[in-house]
Amino acid sequence: MKRHPVAKEGEIPPGGRKIVAVGPLQIGLFNVGGEIVAYRNACPHAGAPVCSGRISGTSLPSRVYEYLYGREGTILRCPWHGWEFDLRTGEHIVDPKNRLKQVPVASENLDRLPTERSGGTLYVLLSQ
Ligand code: FES
Repeated sequence: MKRHPVAKEGEIPPGGRKIVAVGPLQIGLFNVGGEIVAYRNACPHAGAPVCSGRISGTSLPSRVYEYLYGREGTILRCPWHGWEFDLRTGEHIVDPKNRLKQVPVASENLDRLPTERSGGTLYVLLSQ
């Protein structure tokens, strides 16, 4: 795996994102509750730049005529057709076999990244 520097530790605040280009690839980095995750910026439905979509919550399972909203800040909604993905896993919230393509992220010393750390470099790990 080749390490590509993409951000500084602490640069992406909780709830924030950064979209970067690594060669021909676009990758979205997200801070979800203090954990940095990264995905290819291509929706599995029809290839939209999904990482630029709205970060929100979603409707929760509920009884008829009950409307519950939750999971705020953990759902990424594709800007083209509205598919919703869990930012923590990349899975489509209704059909988990449709998922965003996750990209491994590492810091200089850790695999998972507490956001309190700052000053170091975040890397995405790619085969090329
Ligand atoms: S391209 Fe993303 S939902 Fe259609």
